[in-house]
Amino acid sequence: MKPPEARTAYKQLFQLLEQHHNWMQQTINLIASENVHSPAVREAMMVDFSDRYAEGWPGERVYAGCKYIDQVELLANELTEKLFRAEFADVRPISGVLANLSVLTAFTEPGDRMMCLSIPTGGHISSARHKLWGTAGRVRGLKVQYFKYDEQELNIDIDATLRRIRRLEKSGKHIDIYMLGASVFPFPHPVKEIAEIADEFGAYVNYDAAHVAGLVATDNFQDPLREGTDSMTFSTHKTLPGPQGGCIVSHEKFADRIKKGVFPALHSNHHLHHVAAKAVVMAEMLAFGEKYGKQVVLNAQTLGQALTEEGFKVLAEHKGFTKSHVLLIEVADTPLRHGRAVEEKLEEANIIINRNLLPWDKRMGRDYVKPGGIRLGTSEMTRLGMGKPQMIQIAKFLRRIVFDNEEPSKVARDVTEFRRPFQKVHYAFDTTRDAYEYVRLR
Ligand SMILES: Cc1ncc(COP(=O)(O)O)c(C=O)c1O
Repeated sequence: MKPPEARTAYKQLFQLLEQHHNWMQQTINLIASENVHSPAVREAMMVDFSDRYAEGWPGERVYAGCKYIDQVELLANELTEKLFRAEFADVRPISGVLANLSVLTAFTEPGDRMMCLSIPTGGHISSARHKLWGTAGRVRGLKVQYFKYDEQELNIDIDATLRRIRRLEKSGKHIDIYMLGASVFPFPHPVKEIAEIADEFGAYVNYDAAHVAGLVATDNFQDPLREGTDSMTFSTHKTLPGPQGGCIVSHEKFADRIKKGVFPALHSNHHLHHVAAKAVVMAEMLAFGEKYGKQVVLNAQTLGQALTEEGFKVLAEHKGFTKSHVLLIEVADTPLRHGRAVEEKLEEANIIINRNLLPWDKRMGRDYVKPGGIRLGTSEMTRLGMGKPQMIQIAKFLRRIVFDNEEPSKVARDVTEFRRPFQKVHYAFDTTRDAYEYVRLR
């Protein structure tokens, strides 16, 4: 194939970017790991910091030219500490995966043993085993054991897990670090119980709040640092509606080793414009987060109920479906038969969701390509100001595609109409511009 001519490709590229923005204005986005940030976060990401280096810690940089960068990073750290009620924060990790790896680097050695959730039970690839190319196994060289899981409760089976830990410890297989948290995470984890047994046998506990950081920050889920964890890692762009990136909060006694795990171990340039934008989102959450987080959870529970009434099998109905932003729905018995078909057909109708493995899918011979479930999250639509009536309407749109076999383009027209009044970001200081407005600088 002939390589594209530079000017043509350049033009095409910007057309695609603008088309993406236009499309986002018309979609219902229910991807649980996504959100929409405010125009203020976007403005902070446009500044000259993106052309600079500031290796190291504010005041101890390896580079000159950092007098404003240092002040911004200190502000970001202070706001993060305040928001998460933590003694120490490090906003430098450039992703959730690298925040996790920084903590694993700070607290473990290759060959150590970690316990976490497996992928089919909601665990993330950054905690997975060597043979799965998981970060913990393949990169940090950890041996990975799994928490026992209760498929009905959609949570760690704490009694069976404690028995497993005692068995492992007795047979000389010491666990060096526990990784709580997950990618499918409807109910608070038993942090206290894990922290107690970690204390008994001498192990670290990290809580991966990649998904739920926005809820933890705003006191709408659980409070891992006070329940006994040594540290907490997270993405800054899921329920926390900031720029893409990562972050670590912890206690003062671990500050030094965590800092070293971030730099020099894993980061050189730490994307300074994102640090500025992280400061913005922390301020937004301090000011508006409590209401936002509450509404995210309420919307998820309302959507769970509405989907059930439309005929969907939403898991954990007996527990009110969820206490976070996320819902897990079994679609294997629907006319579309698997999560991928549902995902594809909904996308044609401007509804963006993702397919998801259910805890029992492997046993049923299903895999990630055509899993039995879908995962929905309510963060982004909440940030646009949606509430109960909109959740009920969204459930109806899903029913028209999944059960009524309606023409997706017809549903897409209705979705576009439905989305029209929801173009501004809520729970933020300045919202003059529309959420997905395409801003030209050229
Ligand atoms: C539990 C968990 N940890 C870590 C990550 C990785 O975060 P990031 O995409 O910011 O690297 C994710 C991403 O979805 C996740 O769900």
